[in-house]
Amino acid sequence: MLTEGQVVVHESLGDEEQRLRRLVLKGPIARTAQAGQFVAIQVQDSSISSFDPLLRRPISIAGISSERDEITLLYRIQGRGTEILARAKCGDKLSVMGPLGKGFSLPEKGELWLVAGGIGIFPLYPLAHRALTQGLTVRLFWGGENKSFLESAGLSSWKALGIPLHLSTLDGSLGQKGLVTGQAQELLEKSSAASGGHIRAAACGPKKMMQAVTELCKNYKVSVEVSLEERMGCAVGACLGCVCTLIDEAGVLIHKKVCQDGPVFRGEEVVWDESC
Ligand SMILES: Cc1cc2nc3c(=O)[nH]c(=O)nc-3n(C[C@H](O)[C@H](O)[C@H](O)COP(=O)(O)OP(=O)(O)OC[C@H]3O[C@@H](n4cnc5c(N)ncnc54)[C@H](O)[C@@H]3O)c2cc1C
Ligand code: FES
Repeated sequence: MLTEGQVVVHESLGDEEQRLRRLVLKGPIARTAQAGQFVAIQVQDSSISSFDPLLRRPISIAGISSERDEITLLYRIQGRGTEILARAKCGDKLSVMGPLGKGFSLPEKGELWLVAGGIGIFPLYPLAHRALTQGLTVRLFWGGENKSFLESAGLSSWKALGIPLHLSTLDGSLGQKGLVTGQAQELLEKSSAASGGHIRAAACGPKKMMQAVTELCKNYKVSVEVSLEERMGCAVGACLGCVCTLIDEAGVLIHKKVCQDGPVFRGEEVVWDESC
């Protein structure tokens, strides 16, 4: 759906060095959005041309309020497109396409383990919220560069959910020093429930991290969904710019579009070394 979103909040998040922004848009997308879906937002430098840059930028839906008709987007300023987006002011109307793609699924019961690397945390918050509403047990494993990043990227909102948090940082400034997979592995080893199929995992972050999470889950027979965040062109299945390689249940290699068939896929179906 192509629609307009009116900016109702646009603010810096935490430490300015992290270049993180929170953008709340009012519009009809909130009525149908699901955790794990994304929007493709038009960013235009009107001082140059109304078609520059041409491509919309994909951003995950990080919060959904259907009562207020609002979605929250959390993003990091990476390059030109997000720099232009960061200039949007309250009251501005932005052209937004969405909700796009297929989101995460939830088990009917049991535990949901969320595993996030860096800003991969953003699409997981509405998922945690939905899972808790459905009565599932949720825990979060989240790794980032340092304490400043985790605090800026919404740690207090996660603490407010009251779920177990397993934090790690590369420099050891908060939580365990090292990679996010370390803590997940420790707990999987201790957890007898793992073999009973009571745990499902959902992961989002850098590709190497999601590959490692998938391998870990495979070793402990835990089913995992991953959200592939790759560069996109059209975001609606027309340009084939986001095609990735998967392997189906019969062992046959197939190609799918991340924007339309994903961005969420079962971890075990992703061919990590070739995908996208
Ligand atoms: C489905 C999906 C959901 C996303 N959700 C979010 C989100 O919630 N918050 C957020 O901050 N970002 C998210 N991203 C990434 C975001 O789309 C890019 O950061 C953004 O498009 C960069 O645009 P730019 O013009 O600012 O940077 P560019 O000038 O295009 O690129 C700047 C740098 O960022 C890298 N980059 C660009 N796009 C991506 C990408 N998709 N993945 C990894 N690196 C990239 C480039 O290689 C380059 O090094 C998502 C991407 C996808 C595909
Ligand atoms: S981005 Fe064009 S087909 Fe997916």
